[in-house]
Amino acid sequence: MNDVNSFISYKVDDPGTFVVGHRGASGHAPENTLASFSLAIKMGADAVEFDVHQTADNRVVVIHDEALDRTTDGKGMVISTSLQEIKQLDAGRWFGEMFSGERVPTLEEALSHVCSRAIALVEVKHSSDFYPEMEENIVKAVSGNRDWLHRSIFISFNPSLILRLKELNREIITGLLTLDPPEEYLEIAKEFGASALFPRWEKMKPDSVKLVHEGGYTVHPWVMDREEDIARVLEMKPDSLSSNFPDRLMTAAGRKQ
Ligand code: G3P
Ligand code: CA
Repeated sequence: MNDVNSFISYKVDDPGTFVVGHRGASGHAPENTLASFSLAIKMGADAVEFDVHQTADNRVVVIHDEALDRTTDGKGMVISTSLQEIKQLDAGRWFGEMFSGERVPTLEEALSHVCSRAIALVEVKHSSDFYPEMEENIVKAVSGNRDWLHRSIFISFNPSLILRLKELNREIITGLLTLDPPEEYLEIAKEFGASALFPRWEKMKPDSVKLVHEGGYTVHPWVMDREEDIARVLEMKPDSLSSNFPDRLMTAAGRKQ
């Protein structure tokens, strides 16, 4: 169930709910590492979400924060550190000794790891306003590989960033993240070239899914970890569910392997 077109297109007769592993299976493994992505896929996730920032030497790397401190044994900002320096850091031991040796992946390493088995949902945290030529560097990384291009969705809160990606390569698939009810963003999504809406689940209204579908878009709420929250969102029949515990989503969706 991990075809990217089915993920982003609404079909009345195909109401299946996709499962997204948020930062991989980050409730069980160190977030945004290859180990976390493998575990999410093993649990049955159709898509793996991860976050990207850019190094001092303009390499796109997979990490959630602007700073290295929380999820590696390094210190300082990603933007002030070279890829070679970042590659020396341990990105797993903070979570558990068994994960020591995990590294911060590059965007290319993450796409290569994920795309043959699942959809990659790549959250771009900042535009070229913060990281020099960020959009160009992403498009360069993904455009040379047809599999990656057609198996990844670039998501952002920033509509201008999405538009820029589309201008650089119209085949790139994008999604708009929202902190408000998704139906309020249909016009913006259309105007800026986003293919799907990704709202914070707590902001969903009972008729949000219906309204977004009527607008011709799919809706992908994030991030539910508690069983009661998963059940509540599942009842709204969104197009996907996202969790740090994709195994809980598989159980709730009746797809436990
Ligand atoms: O998928 C969207 C979600 O990941 C945004 O929040 O802070 O976990 O990146 P955050
Ligand atoms: Ca994210």
